[in-house]
Order: sequence, then structure tokens, then C-alpha cells
Amino acid sequence: MRIKTFSKKQGQILRFIEQPEITLICDGAVRSGKTVSMILAYMIWAMSHFDRTNFAICGKTVRSAERNILMPLQSIEGLPYCLEYKVSKSILTVRCGKIENYFYLFGGKDESSYMLIQGLTLAGVLFDEVALMPRSFVDQAIARTLTYSNRKLWFNCNPEGPQHWFNQEWVLKAKERGARHLHFLMDDNPAMTPEGIEEAKKEFSGVFYDRYILGLWVLAEGRIYDMFDKTKHVVAAPPGPCTQYYISMDYGTQNPTAMLLWGKCGGVWYMLREYYYSGRDQKAQKTDEQYYAELVKLAGDPPIRAVIVDPSAASMIATIRQHGQFMVRPADNAVLDGIRVTATALSSGKIKICECCANALEELPGYVWDDKAAQRGEDKPLKINDHAMDALRYFSMEVFGRPNPGPITIGG
Ligand SMILES: Nc1ncnc2c1ncn2[C@@H]1O[C@H](COP(=O)(O)OP(=O)(O)OP(=O)(O)O)[C@@H](O)[C@H]1O
Ligand SMILES: [Mg+2]
Repeated sequence: MRIKTFSKKQGQILRFIEQPEITLICDGAVRSGKTVSMILAYMIWAMSHFDRTNFAICGKTVRSAERNILMPLQSIEGLPYCLEYKVSKSILTVRCGKIENYFYLFGGKDESSYMLIQGLTLAGVLFDEVALMPRSFVDQAIARTLTYSNRKLWFNCNPEGPQHWFNQEWVLKAKERGARHLHFLMDDNPAMTPEGIEEAKKEFSGVFYDRYILGLWVLAEGRIYDMFDKTKHVVAAPPGPCTQYYISMDYGTQNPTAMLLWGKCGGVWYMLREYYYSGRDQKAQKTDEQYYAELVKLAGDPPIRAVIVDPSAASMIATIRQHGQFMVRPADNAVLDGIRVTATALSSGKIKICECCANALEELPGYVWDDKAAQRGEDKPLKINDHAMDALRYFSMEVFGRPNPGPITIGG
């Protein structure tokens, strides 16, 4: 990576190296140039003030720290440092002349990181995507720095809900804590062209737009798919023949089972038909074999590329496999990623729903964020009548989701 210039905002991160404050907080939009300028400033600060000293670089997991922080750092052209990374120990040794320092990579969500960080004394910690880490890990890492009077803490993240612990404890208390707070937007990244920014804006909608594009700590409240509009999204039938087909399935033994048949026509995916059964309402449970018979009926004649099934439905997955007719894939059940990807597909008109899919159409407007969870700082859908919604998510993740989705990969 060639860095020719820094934006004014990124320059403020670099100036933090010589400023007296201990803490820097950078929050805001995705791809706004937070991580790359922060890791660079962190390295320059560490190398110019310390020798043979330990530091921490924390990501959501060690792997994401390697991918999102270490790899971009290694690719920056013209750095005056020699970087040597030991994968087995997750330690990066940085040398410049006779000076050398050690950067331990940790994952806030990795169990093993808790144990390892407890044994260290650190002069600084960089938390990349801190809002994805548990507070206990962050507190533990900070405690390891207390013996250094010239320590520095570097935080960056995309916003979550306003009640999120990091917003409450650090962003809102930045002044009180004497921390520097910088808010980033995509304009603050010199590598983002106006076209690139426009493209990025199309990737998000609803609460995700407010958080990842506008960089605001806003509540996920009300309808989840508030972009759903009957006049735009509901059709009698696709305008022509479909070329590819999928079925997605949410499976319940006590709870209802929902199956959705999908067909692609002219770049748009249509929810063509649905199957919905509630054993509780009908006062009769169905066996996996009976559900399989319904799946065959729903599929009809066209070739189905895959049946995407609720990953916890091991017995159903096994039953479908035994019959050998359909390719089965356990769904990616990352709930927030699935909602984000579905919201984007609805906004950009890539998903439409045929009017015969009555249960899905009934669930859509009633699929709402859980207010109580939001007050605790967690984003979750309210778990009522969400079976077709789960099947919708599974489909979206399969067709529109990217590998390793999440805020970190959004930033690439
Ligand atoms: N000054 C710069 N010069 C050249 N490229 C840059 C510069 N700043 C950022 N970039 C590039 O822009 C992309 C996004 O930057 P970065 O990953 O730092 O953003 P981010 O704010 O951390 O995003 P996210 O919130 O999604 O993690 C990266 O590919 C990075 O290399
Ligand atoms: Mg980043």
C-alpha cells in the first residue's frame, strides 16, 4: 500500500503521538481510514519512545487482528521498520537500528487471550474494533498498562447502539476521562473517491446506514426492515422465467417450520412460494420425513442449486442428505450480518416477494428490534413470529453475504 497523503483527520491521529493525553478514541464510518492511520501512529509512537518493551494489538480475534491490522501494516511501502511476525506466538517484533519492541496480537473474543494478557506488562494497547470486544477484556488489557506513566491507549470502532458499554464508558465520557475523541467519516479517507463513497452508501440501509455511513451511535428500534415497501417489493409473479433456484429453511420441532422457494429473474431474486407449518397450532408434529416430502413438493420440477437449512437442524440436514436429491448447506446464522445483508438487498431491489407468500409478508412488518435488549446495548430481533424471517436471512447470507462478514471485513 502506498500512502502519499493523510487527511486532516488522520493527521490528528499522528499528532497524538506527541500529545500529553493517554487515550485516543476514533469512532465513525466504515472505510474512513481509522485503522491504517492508527496502527501507523501507534508504531511510530512506540518505536520513538520505547525500547525492548511490550505492546498489545487487539482485534476481535487474533485472526482478524492479523488480517485487518498486521497485513495492511506489512504492506505499507517505505516504512523505516523491520517487521518480523511469529505466527505460532502471535508476536510481532519491530526493529529500527538498535531499537526493538514487541507487539502481542490478541483477540478480545478469544478465550485464550484473557489468560495470556494477564501475565504481561504493556506500555500501550491498540484496540481495533473495540465495540466488538467484551468490556472485561478491554479492562484487563488497560490494567496491564498502569505501571507506565507514559502509556497510551488507542481505541477505534464503528458505532453500535447508544447503550453499548464503549459508548457509555468512553465515547460519552471522553472529556471527563481526558481522552481525545475524533469522529471519522468516509471523506476523511484520502483513498475514497466520491464514486467509492456512493457505492459504499448503497451497501447499507436503515440503522446500519446511520451507524456505518453516518458514524452515529443510534438505537436499533422499531421495524428491522423499515425499507420494506409493499408497492416496491411485492409482485404477483416474476416478469419472466427464472434461471436459478434455492430453497431456504428455518426448522422447528416445537416452533413452526418455514421453507422459502427462491428463483432468479433478471438479476432479482424472487421469493416464489413458501411452505409454513406450525405443529403447535395444528396440534400435530411432523417428522423429518414428512417435512422432506413437503420440501420435494415445494421444489417442484426445476433444479434447486441448494437447500439452505437452519444450522441447528442436524436431523433435518441428515434426512435431506440421505435422500441424495438436493445439495444441502447449513445456513450462516450470524444474525446481525444476515439482517444487514437482507436490508441492503431489499433497499437495492435485489429481493422481491410474490404475493402468495402470505406468512413471510405477514412477518415482515412485524419483525422488530428487541427494545429491552437495546437498552442493555445489544442488537437483537424480537423472537416472535420470525420463522420466515430466519429463512430469509439464511437465503440472503448464502447469496449476498460475503465470507467473514462483519464490520471488520466491511472495512476490508
Ligand atoms: N492516507 C491513506 N492513503 C492511502 N490509502 C488509505 C489511506 N487511508 C486509508 N487508506 C485505505 O483505505 C482503506 C480503508 O481504511 P481503514 O481500513 O483504515 O478504514 P477504517 O476506518 O478502519 O474502516 P473500518 O471501520 O471498516 O474498519 C484501506 O484499504 C486503507 O489502506
Ligand atoms: Mg478499521
